[in-house]
Amino acid sequence: MAVHIKNHDEIELLRVAGRLAADVLDYIAPKIQPGISTGEVDRLCHDFMVDFQKVIPAPLDYAPPGYKPYPKSICTSINHQVCHGVPGDKILRQGDIVNIDITVIKDGFHGDTSRMFEVGNVSIQAKRLCRITHECLWLGIRSVRPGGNLGDIGAAIQNHAESSGYSVVREFCGHGIGRKFHEDPQVLHYGKRGIGLSLQPGMVFTIEPMINAGKAAIRELADGWTIVTKDHSLSAQWEHTVLVTDESFEVLTMSPGMPAAPIT
Ligand code: MF3
Ligand code: CO
Ligand code: CO
Repeated sequence: MAVHIKNHDEIELLRVAGRLAADVLDYIAPKIQPGISTGEVDRLCHDFMVDFQKVIPAPLDYAPPGYKPYPKSICTSINHQVCHGVPGDKILRQGDIVNIDITVIKDGFHGDTSRMFEVGNVSIQAKRLCRITHECLWLGIRSVRPGGNLGDIGAAIQNHAESSGYSVVREFCGHGIGRKFHEDPQVLHYGKRGIGLSLQPGMVFTIEPMINAGKAAIRELADGWTIVTKDHSLSAQWEHTVLVTDESFEVLTMSPGMPAAPIT
């Protein structure tokens, strides 16, 4: 595993990319209302990124080994969809929860972040899943420190998810990020404290736990991208891009409109 340590100039470019990705979520947040289609959400985000921010939407035509090119500019994963939901004709309805995942490329560097949105009034169960998953993300982030281990992040997330009665998706993980969308290391959302890669200042990776209300098992839809829970239980995900600093961590995907970090 070759983990790239970013230098000062690279970190500055990652800060810019991260902020831009978060700004897209701030822009789209008020538009996530009953009646809008995920295709319209994609079009609005695409135009904001390309025409206003002058960034490249990283998902568009992205084709990792074994995948066909991704057809849209963002991911929209609704209810039992875990991740990589492909925008289309689907209309968001009152009571839905939806993850919107934004990755931009600015001056060659990637910023990657996602949030959950509640469409109108949603059930207490859906609200709780979104809240606990947000707490899982922040517990993961707050366990990042130089000299710590990758396993500290996974352990913190797994502990909170499972003690809340939920399960952690195993097949997808956080990832190193920089000039490449997905690079080493793999950041598992489960694990054991004190195990795994030793964290060093200058490492940049995402933390993006996918938490299911039911069982952990997933399957892929025939579109070759969309991942759903096998038992059709609700699933939630939140994502930030994080830098390991000399002291602790810095979240690179902050923006004025982002939900406040929970008191964990
Ligand atoms: N943004 C996703 C992540 O957090 C990856 C999406 S790949 C795509 O890693 F092709 F589906 F967009
Ligand atoms: Co990511
Ligand atoms: Co993402």
